[in-house]
Order: sequence, then structure tokens, then C-alpha cells
Amino acid sequence: MIFTVAIDGPAAAGKGTISRAVAAEFGFAHLDTGLLYRAVGALGGDPIAAARALSPDDLQRDDLRTLEAGQAASRVAVIPEVRAALLDFQRRFARAEGGAVLDGRDIGTVICPEAEVKLYVTASAEVRAHRRWLEVGGDAARVLAEVIERDARDMGRADAPLRPAEDATVIDTSTLGTADAIARACSLVRAAL
Ligand code: C5P
Repeated sequence: MIFTVAIDGPAAAGKGTISRAVAAEFGFAHLDTGLLYRAVGALGGDPIAAARALSPDDLQRDDLRTLEAGQAASRVAVIPEVRAALLDFQRRFARAEGGAVLDGRDIGTVICPEAEVKLYVTASAEVRAHRRWLEVGGDAARVLAEVIERDARDMGRADAPLRPAEDATVIDTSTLGTADAIARACSLVRAAL
């Protein structure tokens, strides 16, 4: 069975948690596509060459979750040649036999517009910054500023900007608890199956 769940949205909205839960519930493969951009940013040097040569080992680095790695990822993610180099891998993953969940910024709009289920998971910048701050600590105002800066870059870029697909279901986790958000996502997948 070919079946794709596309989960897009801004940083720290809860995409990863929902994606992992949906993948586990239905036995689908899961790809966190942000890791691809984080790895390209972390490799340094020429980002286009890094994207073209990216290997599974590069995704195992333990420094990919930091605020700096997120900023570096969003800077290389504006480069069309970087996005193009990562496209085929993501498309093949999305349409591989057995079902797949991909979370990112452009899955429902660019990578897999034919996805059977499209979710746009979002929350206010303040709520998302607070969640990120609980993970990384440090200066809360700086974490909020980083979230706002990254949103602006991801939404404002010319190539594959972050936006909900027209046929996406929006899940706002500002007030919705984790269990309810997961239940909502799973029921949409179940209905589409
Ligand atoms: O989701 P995560 O915070 O790990 O993503 C890091 C950055 O990678 C995002 O801010 C965005 O700039 C970029 N990204 C993207 N397209 C995706 C996934 C991530 O441009 N599908």
C-alpha cells in the first residue's frame, strides 16, 4: 500500500510528536525532513555540495537539535539547489510501499502534493518558544526571538515557503493537549485509510 501522511508547520508546533505517534499507530515509516536541512547546515562548507553528498551517517550527528543548528538549517533551506538535491530522496520515501509519515515545511505543498492526508500543525509563537525553552533552557527572550526569526525566514522564502496546503487540516496545539492532537491526527488517517 502507498499512503502518505504529510505533516507541515512551524518549529516546535508538535509535528514531531504527532508524526512519531501516527507512524507507530499505523506501522508507517517516519522521516523528520528537518534533519536533512539541519545536517546540511551542520556540515558547513558549500551547502549545495553538502546536500548532494548527504549520507545517512550525517543524520546521526548529536549536534543537530540545537538552536544554532535550527538557524543554520533555515539559512541553507532558502537555497533552491539545496532543496532540489533533497527532493528525490523525500519523494521516494513518501511513496515507498508500506505507508510513510513525513514532517517538515513543504511536504503537502511541494514534496508530496498527492499525500492522502495533509496536516498543518501550528501554535502561537509564544507557546512554541516556551516549549523550545523547556528543551534547551537559556534566555527565554532569545528563544522567542529565534522562533520568530526562523518563522519569518521559512514563510518568506521564494522557494517552497512554509504555508498550509489548500487541502490541509489545521491542528492548533496552542490549547490542544498532546493526546488530543494525536487522537485527531489518527482519526483523520483512519478515515482516509
Ligand atoms: O523541523 P526543523 O526545525 O528541524 O527544521 C529546521 C529547518 O529546516 C526549518 O526551520 C526549515 O528552514 C528547514 N526545513 C525546510 N523544509 C522542510 C523541513 C525543514 O525548509 N521540509
